Amino acid sequence: MNRYHGRVVAITGAAQGLGLAMATRFAAEGATVALADVNEQALANAARTIADAHDVKLRTDVVDVTDSAQVNAWIAGVTTGLGRLDVLVNNAGIIRDNRVEDITDDDWHAVIDVSLTGGFHCARAAFGPMKHQGYGRIVSFSSMSWRGNFGQTNYVAAKAGIVGMTRTLALEGARHGITANAIAPGLIETPMLASMNGPARDKLTNKIPMRHTGRPEDIAEAAAFLASEAAGYITGIVLDVDGGISIGSSIR
Ligand SMILES: NC(=O)c1ccc[n+]([C@@H]2O[C@H](COP(=O)([O-])OP(=O)(O)OC[C@H]3O[C@@H](n4cnc5c(N)ncnc54)[C@H](O)[C@@H]3O)[C@@H](O)[C@H]2O)c1
Repeated sequence: MNRYHGRVVAITGAAQGLGLAMATRFAAEGATVALADVNEQALANAARTIADAHDVKLRTDVVDVTDSAQVNAWIAGVTTGLGRLDVLVNNAGIIRDNRVEDITDDDWHAVIDVSLTGGFHCARAAFGPMKHQGYGRIVSFSSMSWRGNFGQTNYVAAKAGIVGMTRTLALEGARHGITANAIAPGLIETPMLASMNGPARDKLTNKIPMRHTGRPEDIAEAAAFLASEAAGYITGIVLDVDGGISIGSSIR
């Protein structure tokens, strides 16, 4: 498949986990990929892994999405350096879980700043070039948690914010050929999930109707579809990729 040939795809949080899986998938489909992350070493390793497997143009930038000046410089660099910007994947996100009364100011701001404000910074910077092209795809990462989750007030607020932001970007982008959609993953095997302890993880896995966690490739598949030309009439949606966990409780 070469459906991304000639397309430029920019991904935040691309050094590991879902970001790396998506970067690999877009590269496999012929895209020029711009990988951004705060973790310089992991970013270099990620780019090397992709370059070893796929003969495509890659660009890496150390970017902290919470800093709008860094984001603006990154998007400007991608657009001028690679000639265009077709797809933005707002993937960077962090968790700092606690019960509401134990969430510190720092824990609140860190999660909101990376997982929501970071996405806003990137979407705002990408909108201009995408409008100018009359084409753009913005895919942002929400979570199955966006509907509410015990111990995640900060993360849920950020991920519900992503849904509201996505629906609004969809409205503002619609007449300019820009679509905006969100993906709400369930439990996917990444370093973020590895940080969850054993019993909590087992309890959650048992709630998944499919009875197993997802693979990063499952998410990459969804992103590669939503960001494609073929998905041009789909905008403002939240796509659950979660083995059915968001359907709700089941009696068995
Ligand atoms: N893994 C899951 O089960 C799961 C479930 C639901 C939603 N998500 C969401 O998917 C996205 C990716 O998750 P993951 O599991 O791959 O996470 P991960 O922790 O494995 O990777 C996140 C990446 O983001 C980078 N990052 C962190 N802060 C950053 C910043 N300020 N600027 C730029 N990059 C930064 C990290 O360095 C890391 O490379 C996140 O938004 C997460 O909330 C994941």
